[in-house]
Amino acid sequence: MSGADAVKEDRLWQRHADMAKLGGTPRGGVNRQALSPEDAAARNQLAEWAQKRRFATFADRIGNLFVVRSGKDAGALPVLSGSHMDSQPTGGRFDGMYGVLAAFEALEALEDAGIETKRPVMAVAWTNEEGSRFQPGAMGSAVFAGVYNLDEMFCQKDWKGVLLKDALAETLTAAPAPVRDGAPGFPVDSYVEAHIEQGPRLETERKTIGVVTAIQGSRRYIVTIDGEEAHAGTTPRAARKDAYAAATRIAAAMYAATTDPDDTLRFTIGRVEVSPGSPNTVPGKAVFTIDMRHPDNAVLAAHEATLEAIVAAKAAPCPARIERVTNVPPTDFDPTVIGLVRDKARSLGLSHMDMPSGAGHDAMHIAKLCPTGMIFVPCERGISHNEIENATPADLAAGAKVLVEVLEALANR
Ligand code: GLV
Ligand code: MN
Ligand code: MN
Repeated sequence: MSGADAVKEDRLWQRHADMAKLGGTPRGGVNRQALSPEDAAARNQLAEWAQKRRFATFADRIGNLFVVRSGKDAGALPVLSGSHMDSQPTGGRFDGMYGVLAAFEALEALEDAGIETKRPVMAVAWTNEEGSRFQPGAMGSAVFAGVYNLDEMFCQKDWKGVLLKDALAETLTAAPAPVRDGAPGFPVDSYVEAHIEQGPRLETERKTIGVVTAIQGSRRYIVTIDGEEAHAGTTPRAARKDAYAAATRIAAAMYAATTDPDDTLRFTIGRVEVSPGSPNTVPGKAVFTIDMRHPDNAVLAAHEATLEAIVAAKAAPCPARIERVTNVPPTDFDPTVIGLVRDKARSLGLSHMDMPSGAGHDAMHIAKLCPTGMIFVPCERGISHNEIENATPADLAAGAKVLVEVLEALANR
């Protein structure tokens, strides 16, 4: 039996259903934000399944969780596959979780088919990919790859002021796993991540497998505007330092400046906080986030300069600043891994197409360490970062079949 033959569609689907209960929302999605009790519950669930299959598990100091299927050559570098189990506050059941469960399914399929590999094959759940609670996103994989510093990440705070170090300690207490000392990261032979596409192209083109060639660059910013609190009924307009009014001027100019006739540049203001948040007090402070993406780093750099100029020009009479919190350049994946994904999709008789990724993924950091690639499967109407996100059991299984075949090839090279 081949690894692909041993992939069980029902088992993979049931695992998604079981995970969807952890942080499940009434609208059918999940709220399983990084380092929350729900995240800990998902870690425990994965570890329990691993123990049943007698796969070893361990974590590193940023909380990345690894499941190990040993290889014949104990000294050979491992092949890694996975994604993330944390979600957006109103997230779907598949974003991230599919990549972790597809990797786990691949380990089980290799086991069930009695296939030995030269290299160990590991499934991994990276910590805090979404970056919606703690900035920056793709944190666990970035620390693993040496892109971010562990101690700096420990000092990050969520929007309520909770220190990441404390949330991580609580998570590792609630979901205990042997923790490897020292800086996270170890040598890896190669990495393959499966994910739902999170966009409409595969569905529109009626293809089952996306052979992912690259990830576009992304930058995130926080804009902070300081005003002066004042009485809403008595303070004349000319005397106000209204932080929210300044925020709307800045935001309107930014939307205008980032309008792209090709619709390639992506610009999003996803979080706005106005303080003190009282109907009859002129806002004394406004904070908003910007997420900007493009395949060409030079275009991102040029737009960054424009955003800075807009903040300087439009904020008066309020002092304002723009701070860049992440800058991830575009990623090109490894031609060997891309070729393997394409070949395995073809030999399994699955329709496929080459495509870049609009979304960010942990693979963008691991690509700095080792040959890396990704496999996309369709999701309904391309909708993601939404509780109604959906995918079919057959497509998820098809992606897992390609994954196990690619992992086996890499683990025996
Ligand atoms: C990941 O969720 C991203 O924002 O691209
Ligand atoms: Mn994701
Ligand atoms: Mn996401």
